Amino acid sequence: MITQRMERVNLILKHKSFMAYVHAIKACENKRIYCKHNMSHFMDVARLTYLKILTAEISLDQSIIYAAALLHDIGKFQQYKESIPHEKASAQLAPAILKDCGYTNAEIKLIVQMIRYHRGFTLDVDDTNAPISAETKRIIALFQEADKQSRMCFACNAHSTCNWPNEKKNLEIIL
Ligand SMILES: [Fe+2]
Repeated sequence: MITQRMERVNLILKHKSFMAYVHAIKACENKRIYCKHNMSHFMDVARLTYLKILTAEISLDQSIIYAAALLHDIGKFQQYKESIPHEKASAQLAPAILKDCGYTNAEIKLIVQMIRYHRGFTLDVDDTNAPISAETKRIIALFQEADKQSRMCFACNAHSTCNWPNEKKNLEIIL
């Protein structure tokens, strides 16, 4: 069972589209001095989210958390090239990869919601006007926190010119 779960995550890692998107983002961020959207960020978000989910005693398969973290920024190249908000672009690109990697429709729905709303969540309904469950909102809130806290502004040479407002920056370690 554990092997199967790990296999799904590693299938994403080796998926042709995933690799192509990571490559496209890398090309767009080649000269970027601010936070990058790379494997290191995806893994930080995965590990932090997992810790938060464990601490909150929420039952959620680790391979769902890792899938959401690996794919949450995957559409960033479309934001650079076509000004499409990357949470929307990523939510559109993710399902095909998740399907190929053996995730069920229900799992894909949750992962896509995590991706779609990872930059902010104020709605009680999703884009299709369907209600979002309280449990899903709790998971999304922890995922948002992990994404923000993964950024080490306190150790970043570019933080003084970064467009994140000061109150949003992680200028200290947050426990
Ligand atoms: Fe992110």
